[in-house]
This record gives sequence, C-alpha cells and structure tokens, in this order.
Amino acid sequence: LRALPQSGILVLVGLMGAGKTTIGRRVAARLGLPFIDADSEIEHAAGCSIPEIFARLGEPAFRDGERRVILRLLNGPPCVLATGGGAYMDARTREAIRSRSRSLWLRATLHVLTRRLSGRAGRPLLAQGDPATILADLQAKRHPFYAEADIIVNCGDDSVDLSAQRVLEALA
Ligand code: S3P
Repeated sequence: LRALPQSGILVLVGLMGAGKTTIGRRVAARLGLPFIDADSEIEHAAGCSIPEIFARLGEPAFRDGERRVILRLLNGPPCVLATGGGAYMDARTREAIRSRSRSLWLRATLHVLTRRLSGRAGRPLLAQGDPATILADLQAKRHPFYAEADIIVNCGDDSVDLSAQRVLEALA
C-alpha cells in the first residue's frame, strides 16, 4: 500500500464515537495486520478501566499513561492502531504519530456522534455534563488538530463496512 509508511503503522484519530475501534478492526483484518486499541492497552497497563483511571488519578495522569503507551506501540511492529480521541491533542504524541506512522482522521458529524454516545457509559469526559454540549466543545477544540492528519476520511453515518472500504481506498 502506497500510503503506509515504512513502519507499517496506521494510526486512527478522531472524536469518540467516530468508529476508530470498529472500523479499525475491520481495516486491520482486511490488511492482514494486527489491530491494537490504545485505550485497551492503557487499561491493561493500569490494571483498571479508563473511568477508574480518571476517577482515581485524574486526567493528567491518564494522558501521561496514554502518551507512554502510544510511543511504545509506535516503536513496535506494523499494526492498525486506534487512539483515544484526546491522544492527538498532546504535542509529543502527535509528533511521534506523525513521524512514525500514517495518521488517518475518521471524521463523523456531531449529530451522529451525539446520537451514538448519548446514554453510553465508559467515557468520563462525557459524564461531566450534557454530552451534546461537551462533544460540540471538544469538536471545536480538536478539529484543527485532527485536520493535520495525513489522510481524512468522512464517515458521516455510514456503516462500518462502507467506512472501512473508504479507508482502504484512501490507502490504496
Ligand atoms: C477520550 C476518548 C476515549 C478515552 C478517554 C478520553 C477523549 O477514547 O481515551 O475516555 O479525550 O476524547 P475513544 O475516542 O476511543 O472513545
């Protein structure tokens, strides 16, 4: 694939609910690469869930762990790596992603994200108030950073299959 760098690592970025994990898993299977979810790796390393990490240690500690885990994975074998929505906001993480991998922004609309995430547990940032307002705020802050990704794929409300297909076409 022309669009994969020498490291063979594809990193998916984008807001929560965009489908980084589900689409990433499908894309990895089609490419014959392992799929790694950075959030799961962080939970494994910490021995507890992300909401527990936020509650016990706070967001800054979560971000430190997130950076460590992602930097380690970027030095590992080829894979498709889904990162948590905030990972790309960290300058050092972003630089490492940009130098060691191909980054791809899975872009969905606010409307779709809000619908998918409303009432869903497990995202501590959304538990702090009205999810729609929080997502709109995160979108405003984060889109300029996501826009720096190497490749942008607009998912809208498309199925996992169709979005995975779009990603593969963008890489071809
Ligand atoms: C976060 C997104 C989550 C997880 C954590 C913080 C964020 O990952 O890392 O709850 O800052 O947007 P997903 O994007 O996979 O939901």
